[in-house]
Amino acid sequence: MQTFDSIVKRASVREYQSKPVPKDLLEKLVDAGRRAPTARAVEPWEFVVITRKETLQKLGQIATSGSFIKGAAACIAVFSKDTKYYLEDGCAATENILLAAAELGLGACWVAGDKKPYAGEVTGFLGASSDFKLVSMISLGWPKEEAEQAKNRKLEDVMHWERF
Ligand SMILES: Cc1cc2nc3c(=O)[nH]c(=O)nc-3n(C[C@H](O)[C@H](O)[C@H](O)COP(=O)(O)O)c2cc1C
Repeated sequence: MQTFDSIVKRASVREYQSKPVPKDLLEKLVDAGRRAPTARAVEPWEFVVITRKETLQKLGQIATSGSFIKGAAACIAVFSKDTKYYLEDGCAATENILLAAAELGLGACWVAGDKKPYAGEVTGFLGASSDFKLVSMISLGWPKEEAEQAKNRKLEDVMHWERF
């Protein structure tokens, strides 16, 4: 599949089959994440891959806006050192992972980290030091149903030539 096809195909998926995601695919996703652009080439990220049922259950409990992590086959938590551009860098890595997941036929959903009140608790629960920022969590699994991307705003509504 070409990059643009993955961009068009990607949609948030929050319901998953019970089938596990093979380790080599999870490695591929993290590899996609670490290949994202990064300000000043600092590569400030760390990726925690969670596949244990009990850990996913607890994570879904703590991260209230991502309660569906409880039913995911895996979750990748994206952490970053607290650099000037940690959020941009961590988000770029997150999007790379989402696009790679779409290409592999996996369902995925971005779950907010950084600005949520639970960010500190998730950080401690996953064993990261408080020097790290939780940028996002990506819940993953084989989709229960095919999801279709739905955008509210059309290209012509958002695109401006030469001036705003
Ligand atoms: C920064 C960010 C944080 C998000 N946090 C959550 C979240 O906590 N829980 C959730 O269910 N979806 C979350 N999403 C997914 C959005 O709800 C989703 O991308 C949006 O509804 C558009 O749908 P689409 O991804 O299918 O295009 C988040 C997306 C972004 C970019």
